[in-house]
Amino acid sequence: MAVNTQQLTRYKKEGRLITVLTAWDYLIAQAIDQAGVDVIMVGDSLAMVALGYDTTIPLTLEEMIHHAKAVRRGVKAALLVVDLPFMTYQESPEQAMRSAGRILKETGAQAVKLEGGYPLMVQTVARLVQVGIPVMGHVGLTPQSVHQFGGFRQQGKSSEAGERILQEAIALEQAGAFAIVLEHIPDDLALRISQKLIIPTIGIGAGAHCDGQVLVTADLLGLSDWSPPFARAYANLRETIAQAAQAFCTEVREHQFPGSDTRKPDTQK
Ligand code: KIV
Repeated sequence: MAVNTQQLTRYKKEGRLITVLTAWDYLIAQAIDQAGVDVIMVGDSLAMVALGYDTTIPLTLEEMIHHAKAVRRGVKAALLVVDLPFMTYQESPEQAMRSAGRILKETGAQAVKLEGGYPLMVQTVARLVQVGIPVMGHVGLTPQSVHQFGGFRQQGKSSEAGERILQEAIALEQAGAFAIVLEHIPDDLALRISQKLIIPTIGIGAGAHCDGQVLVTADLLGLSDWSPPFARAYANLRETIAQAAQAFCTEVREHQFPGSDTRKPDTQK
C-alpha cells in the first residue's frame, strides 16, 4: 500500500523509524521504491548531483518539475515529496502557493518541502496547508542559505542558535507541517526537537535520535564527486561505472564486443 503523510506520524508513535532517499530520475526512483523506502524526495540537491551545479541555488522550477515527473513514473509505493527551488517560494505565501500548486498538479507529487522558519516560512506553511498542500519543513543547515552561512557548516551550535532552531521547528509543526528535516545540527539538539514534536523529524547529519533518516542517493551509492562528512556510502558505483566503461572500451578496441553471444531474443518493455 502507498505511504501517506499521516502514516509517518503513526510510524513515529509506534517507534518505527522512517526511511527517506532522494531521486532525480525514473530508474533511480524505481530501484529505491522497489527496495521499500518510505519516502522518496526529489530534493533540490539534484542541482548538484544530477546537473553539476556547485550549490542548489541555480535550480529552476521548470528543471525541478521536469525531474519530478520522471521520478513520479518510477514511484509506486513511497510518498513522493518535491523540494521548492530557491526563490520560487520566499517572496510571499502567494508565490509559494503558485509554485507548490504547479508541482502537485504537474508532477503528481503528494507533498512539497521548503527550507526555513521564522517568520515568513511559518506563515507560508500555514497557507499551503490551509489549501490542502502537505508541507515538509527543513531547518538547521538549509542549503539554499549556503552563502549566508559561509559554507555548508553545522548550525545550532550555540545555545541561542539551538533554541532558535527548536522554536522554528515547533512553529512549523503548529503551522501544520507533517514532518521536518533536521540537517547538520548537534545530536543533542536533534534529540530535544524530536522529543518535543508530535510530527516526525527526519535527520541528515543530526545523529541517531531523529524519527527517520534521509540520505542523498548519489551519496548512498558512492556516486557523488563530493559528499558531506555525515553521509555514508553503501556502494561504490563511481568505481563500478568506471570499471564497466573501461571494460567496454577495451572489448570494443580488441574486437571482443559485440561477440557471438551478444544477441538475445527480442523482448518488450
Ligand atoms: O535536497 C535534498 O536532497 C534535501 C535532503 C538532503 C533533505 O533537502
